[in-house]
This record gives sequence, C-alpha cells and structure tokens, in this order.
Amino acid sequence: MKVLITGIAGFIGSHMAEYLHQKNIEVDGVDNFNDYYDVKLKRFNAEILNKQGIKIIEGNLCDKSTYKMLDKDYHFIIHFAAQPGISETSSFESYLNNNLIATQKLVEFTKLQKQLVQFINISTSSVYGKFATKNEEAKPEPTSYYGVTKLAAEQLVLAEARKQHFNACSLRLYSVYGPRERPDKLYTKLISAAVNDTKFPLFEGSKSHKRSFTYVGDIVNGIYLALKNYKKTNLEIINIGNFQQETTESGILFVEKNLKKHISLEAKSPRKSDQQETIADISKARQLLGYAPKTHLNEGIKKQITWFNKMTSTHGKL
Ligand SMILES: NC(=O)c1ccc[n+]([C@@H]2O[C@H](COP(=O)([O-])OP(=O)(O)OC[C@H]3O[C@@H](n4cnc5c(N)ncnc54)[C@H](O)[C@@H]3O)[C@@H](O)[C@H]2O)c1
Repeated sequence: MKVLITGIAGFIGSHMAEYLHQKNIEVDGVDNFNDYYDVKLKRFNAEILNKQGIKIIEGNLCDKSTYKMLDKDYHFIIHFAAQPGISETSSFESYLNNNLIATQKLVEFTKLQKQLVQFINISTSSVYGKFATKNEEAKPEPTSYYGVTKLAAEQLVLAEARKQHFNACSLRLYSVYGPRERPDKLYTKLISAAVNDTKFPLFEGSKSHKRSFTYVGDIVNGIYLALKNYKKTNLEIINIGNFQQETTESGILFVEKNLKKHISLEAKSPRKSDQQETIADISKARQLLGYAPKTHLNEGIKKQITWFNKMTSTHGKL
C-alpha cells in the first residue's frame, strides 16, 4: 500500500507519516515548508522522516510543477496541508490559497491516480463555529476565514466523491496537542512561557473556554482507523477527537504543575473568531471505526514537555 501525505513536515502530518511507516506502509509526502511558523521546526520534522526513508517532495500544492514530481500510484491521499489557525496576521488570501485553491489542484491530481482507494480530507471542528458540541449533522456555522475555507475545501472534495470521480471522506479534528505542536498553539506557547519565564498572552475570556484537547497519537490512530475501514467511510464526515473536555484554565494548571513553575499571564483583547466550547461527539467514529481515544491531558502534556526540552536543547529557543 502506498500513501501520499500532504503537509508532511507539519505537526500532525509528520506524526501520521511515522505512524504509517511503523506499520510498514509506504509513505511519500509533500510540503512547501512555508514560514507561517519557524521553518526550522518543519525541517527538523522532515529530517526525522527522511532518516526513516520517507520521501518528501518540496513544493506548493497550488503549483503545477509540484505534481510533476509526484507519483501516480497512490492508494490513499491524506490531505493535511493547509493554512491553519485563527490568526490575525494571516491574510484571507493565505487561507483561500492554501486551503481551497491548493485542495482544488490536489483534487485534479487525484483524478489522475490509477489505483486510488480513498482521499482522506483533514478538516476541523472550526467548521461548526462558536460551539462544536454536536454530531456531524449539526449545521456548520464557521466564524473565521479558517473555518470558512476549510469547510469549502471539505465540500469540494466530497463533491468529487458524489460525482464518483473517486472515493473520499472528511475527518473533523479537535484541538490537537502533543510533541511538535505548532508554536502558535496553546500548549507549546504555555510550555515556552513557563520554561523561558516569559508572559503568556491570554485572550480575554479564554480561560473558561472548554476544549476537547486531543493527543496527537489518538488523532493519527483515528485517521488510520478511517483508512483501514475505507469500505465504510466513503462520503462520510466523521468527528475525530477526545470526548473529555477541559477548560483552558485547567490546561494552564497542568503545565504549571508538571513544570513546577508559575506562568504569568498577559491580558489580550478577546478574539471574535474563537470557539467558546468544543467537545467531540465521536459516536459515529466509535460505531463505524471502533475509535476510542485514550490519552489523558496530563499524560499528553508530560510527553509534550519532554519533546520541548529535547527540541530546545538541540535547536535553540522556541
Ligand atoms: N492542529 C490542530 O489542532 C488541528 C485541529 C483541527 C484540524 N487541523 C487540521 O490538520 C491539518 C494539519 O494541521 P497542523 O496543525 O499539523 O498544521 P501545520 O501548519 O503544522 O502543518 C501544515 C503543513 O502544510 C504545509 N502547507 C501549507 N500550505 C501548503 C501548500 N499550499 N502546499 C504544500 N504544503 C503546504 C505547511 O508548510 C505545513 O508544514 C490542517 O489541515 C488543519 O486544518 C489541525
């Protein structure tokens, strides 16, 4: 079996590649190593994968030339590449290009595949909007460019599957954390603030936000289960996340407890696009895939701290 992973040098894509490789599945990847966050982190991830023999093509999914470097015999395409996050500094064009245009070009490339079994699109709970607490039948009401463009990309992929050009499913992930977490995300920022004695920028009101924080190992396991159960997942949208909910405040306390440090907070004005509450309703994933995430937040944070310390001791401050 041969799998193409887009966004392979990123946080979740790099874990997915290792997970499949460890199961003796052939993996190729593509990434444009963009500078949304420190590129040295992506290079570091890529280096780990290269050492395991995983091939990585450097290219932008929006460019024709990228597809000339990719094979035509993939069984699965797992599409992670995106402009992620709700950032005030990322432009609408960046969300549009990396989430929607890139997906459209990849869809055209997918149609040329000779033995494709399924296209697995990676989507997000952000498509639901302020409250992501219900099952997949809930009306999508995104509140950000990110959510809007990810929803459009998801529907674009599913439209091709409805037209029977290829089989596809879309997995909506919930607040992923763990080793290699992006530096713009909660736990990497918290650990960095604690270790470097810097202030943690806290968006007003966000302490009480409730989140389905999901350990990256449980995420890639869920995606693998979707791949394995491809016969049941064509045209399906499936939530993949932790059904246990914690507040951002309890996340802060877990990091403080593990590092035995106090984190000073710096108040920032609230972000209007932020989700208020997420809790992954994974009844469908349980039933279709036998999915059962198992990592407790405290356990996952410990693993992330170990990674952070190793990363910063060899590659400098994060
Ligand atoms: N991290 C989370 O909590 C979370 C939650 C829900 C959904 N997701 C989804 O998971 C996926 C991966 O997220 P992540 O947190 O690993 O982000 P990431 O930024 O670490 O990884 C994305 C990778 O895609 C690459 N990329 C972006 N645009 C590209 C393009 N046009 N061509 C080629 N490569 C490109 C980037 O260089 C990056 O390495 C995204 O689709 C995101 O929407 C993430």
